[in-house]
Amino acid sequence: MKQMLNVALPKGRLGEKVYEMFEKAGFPCPDIRENNRKLIFENPSVGVRYFWVKPSDVAIYVERGAADIGVAGKDILLEYEPDVYELLDLRVGVCRMAVAAKEGFRDDGQRTLKVATKFARIAKTYYAAKGRDIDIIHLNGSIEIAPILGLSDVIVDIVETGTTLKENRLAVVESILPISARLIANKSGFKFKSECIEAIVQSLAMQTEERV
Ligand code: PRP
Repeated sequence: MKQMLNVALPKGRLGEKVYEMFEKAGFPCPDIRENNRKLIFENPSVGVRYFWVKPSDVAIYVERGAADIGVAGKDILLEYEPDVYELLDLRVGVCRMAVAAKEGFRDDGQRTLKVATKFARIAKTYYAAKGRDIDIIHLNGSIEIAPILGLSDVIVDIVETGTTLKENRLAVVESILPISARLIANKSGFKFKSECIEAIVQSLAMQTEERV
């Protein structure tokens, strides 16, 4: 029997885009388009099994070997530092990590800055490098509300189109870093299934170059 390659895909629009790239790379699984509740799909004829997982969980599946490869945002990789190989920048899911605050906000540097975020490590590293004292308020979503209600002075969050900030009368204060989706691999899976993984990396790399 053909060895199966286990692939963790982030559920949602980004995952669908990424699946199409895998399909083009020669790993189709037609059922995946027909059922939106099922979470595991396989195509034994090409030796692939896909799982839809929460985007922020992809790295956990890959780090622990439940998936050989997967696609995770650079934000998650920087925040959780999973012990995985980062093989390729897929140049999709492009956005940036930024500091935002209420329009007109100025940090006078006088007191500890209250920072609401899902990305505590990224925020701490960023402000430590600037030598700015901060107090992290760890939230799990709808971060934009925090400065509006006075829970925090600023937020550190992902900005893609900027619409969420605009709709909530917030504005970017500083950009921290660019973010995009990365192909990651389990360290031992990469050794045992290297041939197949290398072939995928090559095809995906060609597809990402075509897009530039
Ligand atoms: C992210 C981020 C912002 C939004 C930014 O949330 O936290 O809320 O996207 O996108 P925009 O600049 O295009 O408006 P996401 O949808 O990833 O989910 P979340 O609420 O879990 O953070």
